[in-house]
Amino acid sequence: MAFELPPLPYPKNALEPHTSANTLDFHYGRHHQAYVTNLNNLVKDTPMASQSLEQIITATANDTTKAGIFNNAAQVWNHTFFWNCMKPHGGGAPSGNLAQAIDRDLGGLAKFKDDFKARAVGQFGSGWAWLVASGGKLSITSTPNAMTPLAQGQTALLTCDVWEHAYYLDYQNRRPDFVQTFLDHLVNWDHVTKLLKG
Ligand SMILES: [Fe+2]
Repeated sequence: MAFELPPLPYPKNALEPHTSANTLDFHYGRHHQAYVTNLNNLVKDTPMASQSLEQIITATANDTTKAGIFNNAAQVWNHTFFWNCMKPHGGGAPSGNLAQAIDRDLGGLAKFKDDFKARAVGQFGSGWAWLVASGGKLSITSTPNAMTPLAQGQTALLTCDVWEHAYYLDYQNRRPDFVQTFLDHLVNWDHVTKLLKG
């Protein structure tokens, strides 16, 4: 059973004007699809073809001879996760246990947004900014290229893709504006809340 590109959780134009249908055409339809296609080609006729994405990611994360498989598998997982971190008319403020955890561990929502943005903007080159949980505590992190918290023993709660392909068509080189818009208008806090409950 080959890996498949999962459906987007909303229509391609649903995140406009913050992320255009054109961006999702390329980012989801071309880039995410390419990672799926590459992964299928790389694991074809190997035992990994019948493993889960998560199994492949954790098994290949520290094996430099399997870097191609890891990079494509992790990028498939990261992108599927990223689509679910956004929704039309997103942003706003989390509530309940999630809001309390952000207050407790990250100094409140305003500080979280400032620190998450700084981490996303400060990630040199391609990569991802994350809100993660580990040992019952929330933290902000970033990863280069395809690296994912899944391979680092952390539970991913939220991510923003800061590869240029995520924002260049709409924001050109203005990564800070893209990340601010992600936080203010796109974040799906309901999704993060569900993940925190586990
Ligand atoms: Fe991406």
